[in-house]
Amino acid sequence: MNTHSLTITDNRTGKSYDISIQYGTYPNYGASINAIDLRQIKTTKEDFGLLTYDPGYTNTASCKSDVTFLDGEEGILRYRGYPIEQLAEKSTYLETAYLLLHGELPNVEQLQNWRQHICEHTFIHENIKKLIDNFQYDAHPMGILVGSVGAMSTFYPEAKNIQDHACRYQQICRLIGKMPTLAAFAYRHSRGLPYAYPDEKLSYIGNFMSMLWKGSESKYQPDPVLEKAIDVLFILHADHEQNCSTSSMRMVASSYSDPLSAISAAIAALYGPRHGGANEAVLQMLKEIGSVDNVPNFIKSVKSGEAGRLMGFGHRVYKSYDPRAKICKQLAREVFAVTGANPLIDIALELERIALQDDYFISRQLYPNVDFYSGLIYQAMGFPVGMFPVLFAIARTAGWVAQWQEFLLDPDNKIARPRQIYCGHEQRDYVPLDKRE
Ligand code: CMC
Repeated sequence: MNTHSLTITDNRTGKSYDISIQYGTYPNYGASINAIDLRQIKTTKEDFGLLTYDPGYTNTASCKSDVTFLDGEEGILRYRGYPIEQLAEKSTYLETAYLLLHGELPNVEQLQNWRQHICEHTFIHENIKKLIDNFQYDAHPMGILVGSVGAMSTFYPEAKNIQDHACRYQQICRLIGKMPTLAAFAYRHSRGLPYAYPDEKLSYIGNFMSMLWKGSESKYQPDPVLEKAIDVLFILHADHEQNCSTSSMRMVASSYSDPLSAISAAIAALYGPRHGGANEAVLQMLKEIGSVDNVPNFIKSVKSGEAGRLMGFGHRVYKSYDPRAKICKQLAREVFAVTGANPLIDIALELERIALQDDYFISRQLYPNVDFYSGLIYQAMGFPVGMFPVLFAIARTAGWVAQWQEFLLDPDNKIARPRQIYCGHEQRDYVPLDKRE
């Protein structure tokens, strides 16, 4: 008997079925059965067969992946096997992006070439600039990003050659290279400021800062502490396995649409307050709470359901402290030493202190997630709240393209097409308008 199997007895028929269990890297993490194996379980020959019902994919693996490992019980996050803590301390965003894509850290020459290839793609077409010009002055920068990245697919129609390795690589460099430029232009547009073009002499992050904040000086000098902090935040956000936006990227890409269109869909998925929009929502929540004295009452109203959710808390996978939030909390101290403290930090710390002692949050295993502290850092640096999810999107681009490439090279890849359990009417006859009640 195959001991790595499941015996299922269908009590409707008394029949038993042996279904194989498969494993990933860890035998006690990610054991699974093939959902299609359940289809053989039928009551009659005509019966369609058994489906699984899993709204929100709470217990469904949609793919096999080598990119990111996440153990939510233990609070572990690793990219290609490397702990997030080590990458945040020792790596750079561009090096991490290379790692996510290629599976290995680059050597000196590979890193140099990679930087060069990204650098070659930082400028955007002047017509994209004009497109950004035509958004309303108060357009949300995430909306601008969704629109301008989607529009880019019309400027680079060759991007649809997704089976061509060189073409895929070009789109990957294009997306990682252009995303900060689009984001900075969206920011400048909202301020009514002239656009600052890329400066390839600066680092990836330094160049982004220059495009955001360069004034009349001939050369922008990024503050090294803030440059490092943005780099670390980008590393923390670079990938997070099959989250909502990455799954959207994979889902859209599964129809073999081009990666620029697919990333536009991923950005749209990231935008919502349950996902990447949470950092923006955290800041709004902290502002509304107003002072440390109001925190106990606010927690009470979250528990009673009056105040909505405690934003920046809870996670589908993490049932312990999000390791990224730990790093963010420490990073906030370093950034505040340069920028001055964000006055909302005291409210955030008090919220965390009270929530972590409260039965409501303990019993539901709700801890601060990455978005709880990241917004406070970004605000202290001078970013308006609307830019927070945009920063998340720039960083997550590395993960999106790595997962996209993995999907395309996966021999098991299929168009995403979930099933449903139909609960509507059975067949009925059309009723003419004058006969309806
Ligand atoms: N505040 C208060 N209660 C919460 C919260 C919260 N932030 N999150 C979950 N709960 C409660 C929820 O009401 C439910 O309680 P009950 O069992 O009594 O009905 C229980 O915890 C389970 O919640 P759920 O909605 O079933 O959990 P989920 O895994 O579907 O949702 C989540 C995960 C992240 C959407 C949710 O925790 C949430 O809305 N958090 C606030 C938004 C947020 O911070 N999002 C950022 C996530 S991390 C970064 C990213 O992914 O982009």
